[in-house]
Amino acid sequence: MNGIEFRNVTKRYGADKNAPLAVKGISFEVPAGTLTTILGPSGCGKTTTLRMIAGLESPTSGSIFMGGRDVTTLGPAERNVSMMFQSYALFPHMNVIENVGYGLRMSGVKKDEATARAREALRGVGLVGFDERLPSELSGGQQQRVALARALVLEPAVLLFDEPLSNLDARLRREMREEIRALQQRLKLTVAYVTHDQSEALAVSDQIIVMDHGVIAQRGTPEQLYGRPESEFVAGFMGEATVFPAVAQADGSVALGPLRLQPRHAVAPGSVKVAVRPEAWRIGAADADAEAGAGNGLPATLRKAAYLGSFYEYGFDTTLGPVFVVSTDLSRPLAAGAQATLSLGAHGVSVVPGP
Ligand SMILES: Nc1ncnc2c1ncn2[C@@H]1O[C@H](COP(=O)(O)OP(=O)(O)OP(=O)(O)O)[C@@H](O)[C@H]1O
Ligand SMILES: [Mg+2]
Repeated sequence: MNGIEFRNVTKRYGADKNAPLAVKGISFEVPAGTLTTILGPSGCGKTTTLRMIAGLESPTSGSIFMGGRDVTTLGPAERNVSMMFQSYALFPHMNVIENVGYGLRMSGVKKDEATARAREALRGVGLVGFDERLPSELSGGQQQRVALARALVLEPAVLLFDEPLSNLDARLRREMREEIRALQQRLKLTVAYVTHDQSEALAVSDQIIVMDHGVIAQRGTPEQLYGRPESEFVAGFMGEATVFPAVAQADGSVALGPLRLQPRHAVAPGSVKVAVRPEAWRIGAADADAEAGAGNGLPATLRKAAYLGSFYEYGFDTTLGPVFVVSTDLSRPLAAGAQATLSLGAHGVSVVPGP
């Protein structure tokens, strides 16, 4: 049932055997009919991985399977794959409708039908009334939507996207990512989707693969990657997190300053780190907690506050250093200088390897 499978794939560009590997032995599956995003910093190997799925680059070692078939040595034409590139070069001498219909025409679809299907795809990406324009007569965002329509119109078994929405404004990005996700689910497409944007990845994915320097740092569902990052790198890459040094105790708990945490998994005693999402903090009154002598609160002084419409961002000073807190409690805003006691909720706190 596997759509795409990588088995221990490496990639080195060029003939120099001492050149560094762009991809260092990665294994993963993109189950048929699901969407996987590949996320990671610039140069970590995302585009290289997509190009190997497309057959545009061949692995230096390892194997690639599609639909259960070994395609490692097959070229792009022998794989039912369509790719939307990071640089979405349109044919400059063709107008919009010709650009979108080109792939259909190449695969033998009659002109009238190709035009009709191209028009439908353009409507799907919200680009109506531009059929006769040349790419040079479009904005960057409009060109990107033409490129997206051009990839979608072919309805291939496997669709690959390399940062398809990077030139669009925030609102259009959201609309287009919903469109891509809806289309993927309706047609049960197998999609690999590269992005820099972790909120985009969280919103559209069945599976997220986080890459770092050519290796897979972690893969799993959006909930797993955001809620249970296994390393400081993944915690920091999948959204905001403040990372604190902490100490794992012999009894299995973790001491974070005055706070005591119960990690989800067993950790050996010694130095660890704790990654905390800004929404994991609970803000309590300074006095009440001190009187209760709970011993599980972190005294804090508010340094700065910012109102973001649906939430507040607070910067506290504590004995653990600066603590960044997001609060959706709009009814009792705090003012700079306010004293509080911080504690941690169950979600958004991860113990990751130290020191
Ligand atoms: N054609 C090439 N020849 C030699 N090295 C290359 C080639 N293409 C990519 N590389 C190198 O391989 C590594 C991975 O590149 P890749 O394009 O896959 O990164 P990426 O994750 O897509 O980055 P970005 O987010 O900037 O697009 C980089 O170190 C890059 O310099
Ligand atoms: Mg890239």
